[in-house]
Amino acid sequence: MATMESLIGLVNRIQRACTVLGDYGDADGAAALPTLWEALPSVAVIGGQSSGKSSVLESIVGRDFLPRGSGIVTRRPLVLQLHKTEERKQEYAEFLHLPRRKFTDYALVRKEIQDETDRMTGKRKQISPVPIHLSIYSPNVVNLTLIDLPGLTKVAVEGQPDTIVEDIENMVRSYVEKPNCIILAISPANQDIATSDAIKLAREVDPTGERTFGVLTKLDLMDKGTNALDVLEGRSYRLQHPWVGIVNRSQADINKNVDMIAARRNEREYFATSPDYAHLASKMGSEYLAKLLSRHLESVIRAQIPSITSLINKTIDELESEMDHIGRPVAVDAGAQLYTILELCRAFDRIFKEHLDGGRPGGDR
Ligand code: GDP
Ligand code: NA
Ligand code: MG
Repeated sequence: MATMESLIGLVNRIQRACTVLGDYGDADGAAALPTLWEALPSVAVIGGQSSGKSSVLESIVGRDFLPRGSGIVTRRPLVLQLHKTEERKQEYAEFLHLPRRKFTDYALVRKEIQDETDRMTGKRKQISPVPIHLSIYSPNVVNLTLIDLPGLTKVAVEGQPDTIVEDIENMVRSYVEKPNCIILAISPANQDIATSDAIKLAREVDPTGERTFGVLTKLDLMDKGTNALDVLEGRSYRLQHPWVGIVNRSQADINKNVDMIAARRNEREYFATSPDYAHLASKMGSEYLAKLLSRHLESVIRAQIPSITSLINKTIDELESEMDHIGRPVAVDAGAQLYTILELCRAFDRIFKEHLDGGRPGGDR
């Protein structure tokens, strides 16, 4: 039975197409696309340096693939698109800037993120708002788009311009201030929640907490005799969505090469056997977080179908007139890309209508 493409998968395709076309900045039709991009919901991960952002992302994916180290490691946004594939399909990763190269070794994925970061920012550890797009196709992921952003920081380190602190905050804010952005706000449990950079920014752009998911990492590192129930049960800082507690791998675990499967098992065990958190165990941990986010992202997209559809129709109109205008495209690539987006928009429109009509052959979950 033909399965209807998941809404998240569909939005992913449009986002990738917009980005590719965005690179051909000379095509006028591209002007319509940033608006379309921004209208599409996604999840942005924010938090202070070393709060556990990369660890949470890796747990959600179930793989080690992000660069790590001290200082500002993430210096360009990473748009991570997870695509759930059929069971037994070979898992692979693919970068938008390296089409047709399938990565199956995650050490090489990590290296490519580093190299591609340096290509854009130079070795002086500058930051750049130009995103890197990475897709992971795997039977073991949920459909989800996550954007990893540079960590919020308070001081520039040696060699970095003083403006970097502000530049990072502005870059992160430019993502999270969009009303369609779902905010994954990461705070470490071994610091006072009142000092969390993630919560500070989330509160500023989303005061009612309707699009913020609070994540508390490092529960295992809290002082003995203390616990995080006030935060996890919403008494310290109230959000519309429940807080999720996480136990990632410690640095010692990473040094000992504890793999992600063992890490997830340890995390499950931690919650199941914890005297403080056992009653919350089914709603804690990275696997639960991934499912929660995927479900939420899908429902947000579903609720926005009417407004996205009308924007898409507007984009189709603009692209069609652009195609008329360029006729035989001078830049073949740009013309071909416009055409691809146009086709995608038409498909998008059609499939959205099917979802709206409630006709869900095969379902999308
Ligand atoms: P980022 O800078 O926000 O991306 O943070 P990382 O994910 O790189 O984590 C920073 C450090 O904290 C690493 O050494 C991690 O191993 C460690 N870490 C992250 N989360 C946890 C956790 O839940 N428990 C423990 N014990 N260590 C953690
Ligand atoms: Na923080
Ligand atoms: Mg990181």
